[in-house]
Amino acid sequence: DDTKAGVKGLADSGITKIPRIFIHQAGNFLKQSKSKESLQYEFPVIDLDGIRKGPITRKEVVEKAREASEKWGFFHVVNHGIPVGVLEEMIAGVHRFFDQDFEVRQEWYTRDATKRVVHNSNFDLFSSPAANWRDTVFCIMAPNPPNPEELPPVCRDILIKCSQEVAKLGSTLFEILSEALGLNPNYLNNIGCNEGLAVICNYYPPCPQPDLTLGTTNHTDGDFLTVLVQDHIGGLEVLHENQWVAVPPLPGALVINIGDLLQLISNDKFISVEHRVLANDVSTRVSVASFFRNFDVSPSAKVYGPIPDLLSDENPAKYRAITVKEYVTFFNNKGLDGTSALTHFR
Ligand code: SIN
Ligand code: FE2
Repeated sequence: DDTKAGVKGLADSGITKIPRIFIHQAGNFLKQSKSKESLQYEFPVIDLDGIRKGPITRKEVVEKAREASEKWGFFHVVNHGIPVGVLEEMIAGVHRFFDQDFEVRQEWYTRDATKRVVHNSNFDLFSSPAANWRDTVFCIMAPNPPNPEELPPVCRDILIKCSQEVAKLGSTLFEILSEALGLNPNYLNNIGCNEGLAVICNYYPPCPQPDLTLGTTNHTDGDFLTVLVQDHIGGLEVLHENQWVAVPPLPGALVINIGDLLQLISNDKFISVEHRVLANDVSTRVSVASFFRNFDVSPSAKVYGPIPDLLSDENPAKYRAITVKEYVTFFNNKGLDGTSALTHFR
């Protein structure tokens, strides 16, 4: 049926008016984007070459990462070590997946979020106030990767390759962020921030009425850290000083953002910032977000609370300790409704 063929099915059918379920409340758009003021901001770019050159340039990288994580919750990284060919092939792999007929994609189509490979449209269809103009494929790649045969053949190899590269980069980023918090460089890796990796491939078809809907509703990420590959189309915006600021595609770069769980364990020193994706009526946009979080459902799953070394009489814990499962379950049930899940754990 239509709902199964997803947003791509709707776009391909040539409709000129979007179904009502996709129409967002005007309030979602009140904070206008692309205003003159937003042009004054310079989205942070961090050159990771600095960490290999020597202790002085490494310190500079750590300092930049600290400032960006405190003020933006977002930054670009360049010279991150992942070959640009891997990023391009990852985007191409998502196109190949969605270029297949729905009958083929159907094999992975499910609303059962406990599956390790999940293809659908609007995971939060029944909890969010309005639907998004995007389809997705979600895969849990670590710590227990799926059997390669479970992954769609047209993007199997690149999903595995890209996740391995992102996992390596993640460990490096968690070292930098540990230092930026004034901790031992291995701190965040040692407590397991880099243990789990979930990948979500986003496909945003052209939309006939882009001003009435969104590609992705404003939200914060329910993980420790996100590594995002976006193609050249654009549309991602972050909320900075109460302005929507565009994150312009920077060829070869990756977008990094702090997730709710890192805000929680840093006791609000680093911020998990709202972001959204605009719809457009011209081109299909593809992005691939890798979420660092270990969705461990076992009774012995790790518990995360504000890091004791960061606390003092003047800076008492602002959150209670929780498991990733507890957090993600709350996050997914709430859906993308424009509010933060984090406040629930204060
Ligand atoms: C997201 O934040 O969920 C999507 C980001 C993007 O598509 O750029
Ligand atoms: Fe996000």
